[in-house]
Amino acid sequence: MKKNHLDAFENNAIKVPFVVPNIQNSDKKAIELALQSNLLTDGPILKKFEDEFSKFTGSKYAIGVSNATSALHLSLKSQGIGIGDEVIIPNITFVATANSVLYTGATPVLVDVNYDDINISIKSVEKSITKKTKAIIPVHFAGKSCDMSKLKKISKKFGLKIIEDCAHAIGTKFNKTHVGNFGETGCFSFYPTKNLTTFEGGMIITNSKQTALKIKSMRNHGITKSLKERFTKGHPWDFDVSELGYNYRLDEIRASLGFNQLKRLKKMNQLRQNASRYYTKNLKTIPGIETFEDSKLKDNSCHLYVIRILKDFDLTRNNLFNHLLKNGIRTSVHYKPLDKFNFYKSNSKIYSSLNISHELYEKILSLPLFPQISKKELDLVINTIKQS
Ligand SMILES: Cc1ncc(COP(=O)(O)O)c(C=O)c1O
Repeated sequence: MKKNHLDAFENNAIKVPFVVPNIQNSDKKAIELALQSNLLTDGPILKKFEDEFSKFTGSKYAIGVSNATSALHLSLKSQGIGIGDEVIIPNITFVATANSVLYTGATPVLVDVNYDDINISIKSVEKSITKKTKAIIPVHFAGKSCDMSKLKKISKKFGLKIIEDCAHAIGTKFNKTHVGNFGETGCFSFYPTKNLTTFEGGMIITNSKQTALKIKSMRNHGITKSLKERFTKGHPWDFDVSELGYNYRLDEIRASLGFNQLKRLKKMNQLRQNASRYYTKNLKTIPGIETFEDSKLKDNSCHLYVIRILKDFDLTRNNLFNHLLKNGIRTSVHYKPLDKFNFYKSNSKIYSSLNISHELYEKILSLPLFPQISKKELDLVINTIKQS
């Protein structure tokens, strides 16, 4: 097969990379545009990107930050979460979710996920609430929304904050509302593998003015004035620091790239949805392969395409990974459960069974998925699985 896309790690034997960033000529122009200004951070392009992002998600405020990890950290800080508090997170997520809790001095409490969608298990959440619990971080895994109405009910009943980890979920909706609007904040990632990339970058959305102001100041060392305010009124050095902040800013070059990518995000997500539909149609009939069904694919950002490999399939999950790699196809597993990492064994708490996340960890495999993946590439993945 003539190669469509090059491997990121320059392995010539790879025919289908796991992910290929969607960078077009207009993105290059957007970066050049930002370079023409001599204000390269905290400038007007960031404001434009933030305004567009809040329009896109239907939130009142959007604040650009350096990545989703800092978005989660600032969100937790904005809600006063710190030493002695517990924050409930799913056992299957990227390590950043747990780290952001630990940065605040609070303890992550690991709970199980659902077998059907790898999202946080409501039953497990209920079993893990203690007097110390202050917040829940649901992760909209692979782009499918968590059950936000059930989570909202729990949060009201127990007085808990919700910080939504929307790293996978740009474009994901729950009951017609964009995710990130159900919690105190929603945190998005623009890492290169994500549905929209600024290389590194992130965004926080919120509908609370107070939270937005606090986060805006905390992303820039706790400084109370913007760069423009400092240089257009009074003395530039005459600003105050209201609290401990960080340098979690998003620069103009990344903001310009993000602003341009956002214009075609819907289209890029549709292409992901089409590819996901095609995978499901062709894989669900293979004995021993289980697909994740979603009847509302149009509300799913389709960030990852995950299958489960059952006992009656000819190969184990690891052997299927090897077989696909031998045939030039990269795949991966999202994610190794947090309780299996040495660090979290001594830096987290567990109050309920994690059996489903352990079972899934043996079975799941993420297949190549990106907007520009071709039918030929999809067919090669499908046929290589069939021929194993
Ligand atoms: C679920 C989840 N949360 C948080 C993050 C952290 O994102 P970032 O790399 O932008 O800090 C990621 C990134 O991979 C993620 O997948």
